[in-house]
Amino acid sequence: MKDKFYITTPIYYANAKAHIGHAYTTIAADALARFHKLQNEDVFFLTGMDEHGAKIQKAAEKAGKSPQEFVNNISEGFENLWKNLNIKYDGFIRTTDNNHKEAVRKVLQKLYDDGAIYKGEYEGLYCTGCEQFKSENELVDGKCPDHNIAPEMMKEECYLLKMTELQKELIEKIKSDEFQIAPERYKKEILSFLEGQKLEDVSISRRNILWGITLPFDEDHTTYVWVDAFLNYLTGLGWNGDLNDIPKQWPADVQLIGKDILRVHATIWPIMLLHLGLPLPKKLFVHGHILSGGKKMSKTLGNVIGIDEMIEKFGVDGTRYLLLDAGTFGEDVDVTMERMVEKYNNDLANGLGNLVSRVVKLVQNFQFSISPPKADQPWAGNFQTISNDQTLNTLNNIEIEKALEYIWKIVRDANKYIEDTKPWESAKDESRKEEFEKVMQKLVDDLGLIAELLIPFMPQTSEKIKKALETKKLDEVLFQRIK
Ligand code: ME8
Ligand code: MG
Repeated sequence: MKDKFYITTPIYYANAKAHIGHAYTTIAADALARFHKLQNEDVFFLTGMDEHGAKIQKAAEKAGKSPQEFVNNISEGFENLWKNLNIKYDGFIRTTDNNHKEAVRKVLQKLYDDGAIYKGEYEGLYCTGCEQFKSENELVDGKCPDHNIAPEMMKEECYLLKMTELQKELIEKIKSDEFQIAPERYKKEILSFLEGQKLEDVSISRRNILWGITLPFDEDHTTYVWVDAFLNYLTGLGWNGDLNDIPKQWPADVQLIGKDILRVHATIWPIMLLHLGLPLPKKLFVHGHILSGGKKMSKTLGNVIGIDEMIEKFGVDGTRYLLLDAGTFGEDVDVTMERMVEKYNNDLANGLGNLVSRVVKLVQNFQFSISPPKADQPWAGNFQTISNDQTLNTLNNIEIEKALEYIWKIVRDANKYIEDTKPWESAKDESRKEEFEKVMQKLVDDLGLIAELLIPFMPQTSEKIKKALETKKLDEVLFQRIK
């Protein structure tokens, strides 16, 4: 039987247009999903939209639209962007889908019947930007550091989810890696948080937020957005809330998230699953934030890099490459337009693009006859064989930039090989025929290998290189230099 591989992204808030941060996670998930598909695994890649809550209700009001009309519009924009970026997901979940809403209500009823949810009161500082209660020590100058607004004091009657009683079990599962949190530093961060204090029960409902799923046992309350949102990871697989009929893809193999939502994903989510008697995700992989010029992107600072602007400038595969290789995947990465242009010119225009055009021109000009790829040659579509390579196995560890570094070493070495061997000279000398053919075969093989290895990251470019090798001509410049 095939191994299964289930990978998820967060579902993004439908309160505003998609931005570069959303693209970052989604492109990475796409590359990982494609990589696992190439290894013949039974892959399911889920992404989608988080469409309920105060923040979205407010945004809709401001736009003068009904919430549903508003989220339809935003979600369509996200889907279009994913199409543009060549994201091949297997499921796109929206929390306003009827199936999802019904499943959430079933789960809430079950938790309530089991006594995991009880009625109480909660008082605390609430940040609508985060849709989270904040403790004093998370604030900077009384403001939420992520949203630069002072949270509101809220005291309401609400339903609460029992957390404390499962804290010990959660800590054990994180420690033993049954529920793995990676990279290691985020595991340490969560463990020190969990071991440093008693987890308080969390409010799972709001009274005055109309735009949400009403609690099946109290119609005056709607579900707190996070409880609604987390269940997408199951309903996105078509789950209807029946605990005797859990989708075969569960538990998730990799849940990819940004560090902004680590805390909730490492506490509320697994505790909900424990209450339900369901297995925890195998791995929560946390990446850092994209910064621009060392700072968080913000309209006020004027350092926002638009994703549409990137696609326009660098093309789809150029954008995918620049984001995937923006830095160590897991750490914060800093991007500026200037540096991206430089990297594009170095790695893509002068690096890969130049290599492809030189090799194809040599083949064309000197009528080099490429022997058709043998079945055991990488560019015959045998990704699996070559992906046994140790360095490429970095992708199994989600070390995306290391895999790219490996490929670009082949690109650089091949470009250097052309300069060192000067095949245009041996081509004209009948006595050096053997040498010429040896050099050309190596270059063609390298290009074939590169094309194969690029599939998960730059699928269109990979196709174009393969086609150029087949037809012995290049229809277009792959990466036009940017001035
Ligand atoms: O938090 N750098 O949605 P959201 C890198 N709906 N990644 C970034 C980023 C940045 N500057 N900004 C955003 C939510 N992201 C909830 C999630 S899941 C059950 C519910 C990415 O629209 C990153 O993946 O605020 C981050 O975790 C996510 O977008 C937050 O998206
Ligand atoms: Mg956010």
